[in-house]
Amino acid sequence: MNLPDLNQARMRTDKKVEFIDAKNIKSDKFENKKYFIRTYGCQMNVHDSEEIKGILENLGFKETENLVETDLVVLNTCAIRENAHDKVFGFLGRLKHLKKENPDLIICIGGCMPQESSVANILKEKYPFVNIVFGTHNINDLGSMILKESKKQQIEVYSIEGNVYEHMDYIRDSKITAWVNIMYGCDKFCTYCIVPFTRGKQRSRKMEEIIKEVEDLKKEGYIEVTLLGQNVNAYGKDLEYGYDFATLLENVAKTGIQRIRFVTSHPWDFTDEMIDIIAKNDNIMPYIHLPLQSGSSKILKLMGRRYTKDEYITLYNKIKEKVPGVSITTDIIVGFPNETEEDFEETLEVVNKCKFDGAFTFIYSPREGTPASKIKDSISLEVKEKRLHKLNELINSYSLEHNKEYVDKIEEVLILGASEKGENKVYGYTKTMKLVNVSNAQHDIGKLIPVHITDAKSFSLDGEKVIFVKN
Ligand code: 5AD
Ligand code: SF4
Repeated sequence: MNLPDLNQARMRTDKKVEFIDAKNIKSDKFENKKYFIRTYGCQMNVHDSEEIKGILENLGFKETENLVETDLVVLNTCAIRENAHDKVFGFLGRLKHLKKENPDLIICIGGCMPQESSVANILKEKYPFVNIVFGTHNINDLGSMILKESKKQQIEVYSIEGNVYEHMDYIRDSKITAWVNIMYGCDKFCTYCIVPFTRGKQRSRKMEEIIKEVEDLKKEGYIEVTLLGQNVNAYGKDLEYGYDFATLLENVAKTGIQRIRFVTSHPWDFTDEMIDIIAKNDNIMPYIHLPLQSGSSKILKLMGRRYTKDEYITLYNKIKEKVPGVSITTDIIVGFPNETEEDFEETLEVVNKCKFDGAFTFIYSPREGTPASKIKDSISLEVKEKRLHKLNELINSYSLEHNKEYVDKIEEVLILGASEKGENKVYGYTKTMKLVNVSNAQHDIGKLIPVHITDAKSFSLDGEKVIFVKN
């Protein structure tokens, strides 16, 4: 049994990162068995679940969406805010009942939550029916842990980041768009954020491995890749090779894959060279997610964000000026400890200046072990909720304003699947990451097609496929 140590995770070690081949254990032991997986949290977790699916299918399991018929459950968890925890513990209550009916059910918990020592201890003491607990640094051990078939609870979670695994067998959710990890972990230590503890220090993958993965995806017919990392534009800073995110982007663009996206960028690491490369390459999409977090320089300082309000606005304007038609979205936290009404007004002021295309907005949630959790928080929940509501109304009004600019234009849309809107509609995304529900395009899944935009709402557009008639 190995329990994580938050204090150890807080220290950065000199342990050299090793690049090693994934285990990819193959067995037919679970040939007729089924697995159910639930993923919480960010895109990084979504992609980790594709790795977990690869591990399980290599052992013979097949996926099911029906909990009642499953032989194994994996919860891939998130720790970014307290409510993520609540959802997982709630679901565990359901699984406890299920296990009474089916004592052979194998329950596994992985991802960010077990990286917190308090959670690992709770799982040990209060949830003994959970069979396997693993962390973010040893997903690759899941196969051998399942094969061990121990009746005792197995907890293997490491506080210190280990290796960068290459050549994993992913089962990807899509055949059209693919996630490509370019780095793991984060060295920024924003004071509210638990990620540097749960995901460890920054470890970039080697550029040649990333390029090879993109080339292989292109050969398999993928149209789009999204380069993934907690802080993508710090890519390479931890490597000895002297290359950075701009160089990586340029080389990914050279593979000729049709659409390239990347998340998430930190304003502090955004260089002019990156902006030029995004502007210059048609296959790098004009869409940037650029978290602001707060519009008050005082709060930004307390958050450890390394930029001021004015520096953010200057960067924002520079990107808008140099990348034609770019859309920019953001993340904002309200109710950080000591955020006064004036600080909040400054956030609204920045939103009014930048007029973001969209934003993910959150109420601050104190996370154990982070520096901000030690600052006394005197703002009531009622005030925080009011601020969130006001902010959302403003953000949504700008989203709608931007979306309306698309009406009557023809946009290139990558069609991904059947739309939730029914009526034989399909959905896809513009280059600028606007969701479009499209009519007359049922046979175009997986294709880039021209779409005439007919209507705009705050969160989506409607459109019709353009059919060119030959004279
Ligand atoms: N409380 C609220 N929001 C948070 N985020 C990260 N940590 C916290 C926290 N403790 C938000 C940030 C980040 C996004 C992924 O989640 O806005 O950009
Ligand atoms: Fe968390 Fe800041 Fe790193 Fe983003 S950059 S993952 S907010 S510490």
